[in-house]
Amino acid sequence: MKILPSILSANFARLADEVRDVEKDVDLIHVDVMDGHFVPNITMGANVVHALKQETQVAQDVHLMVDEPIHLLPSFLDAGADMISVHYEACTHLHRAIQMIKDGGAKAGVVLNPSTPASALESIIKDVDYVLIMTVDPGFGGQRFLPSMIDKIKAVHEMIVTSNLSVQIEVDGGVDAETLPLCFNAGATLFVAGSAIFTFADRHAAIEKLIRSVQQNNE
Ligand code: DX5
Ligand code: ZN
Repeated sequence: MKILPSILSANFARLADEVRDVEKDVDLIHVDVMDGHFVPNITMGANVVHALKQETQVAQDVHLMVDEPIHLLPSFLDAGADMISVHYEACTHLHRAIQMIKDGGAKAGVVLNPSTPASALESIIKDVDYVLIMTVDPGFGGQRFLPSMIDKIKAVHEMIVTSNLSVQIEVDGGVDAETLPLCFNAGATLFVAGSAIFTFADRHAAIEKLIRSVQQNNE
């Protein structure tokens, strides 16, 4: 399992320092890109991905919450994104977008909003490296985890096992020491956490707490 700190909850005025504060504890950070159309909020663009690449070593998982993200993919690939996910609901030509990410040398993911059923993945799951299951409606950090998403994680996990695929399941939204073990037991392996890490002064301890939550839950 991997913990991905979401920099949406970090202090944007000192972003590079915030990333340096977590990079020794994780392999990836999660970068939330919002356009004010697909979601009711605006955050950052490829220039931030590029700037952080100059300042830090940690790999970046870019979550594009934008309409028709295909137009932005070249700039995020050029900026050095290591993983890029696009929303099923935002892409008219989903397979083309996924292929463009892979051709650009990054891992490709498809994201499902909470109201999009697992069955939406049937035509795309064989083509992606990971599925991101939103466990809140996207747009803001600090929202409450939707417990009904656990069954969706199980359904996607089942789909992956049945088809003998090596697709990973990532979860995003309201992930903390209580909800993380539920997602882990349902089949998720990549855990995005914003407020459960960046609202604490000791980020190392916050990440350790998330990792330990799985062990404690299964003892
Ligand atoms: C929400 C974003 C998340 C957000 C999660 O739209 O996609 O990545 O940062 O924040 P928390 O962990 O606070 O729910
Ligand atoms: Zn996200």
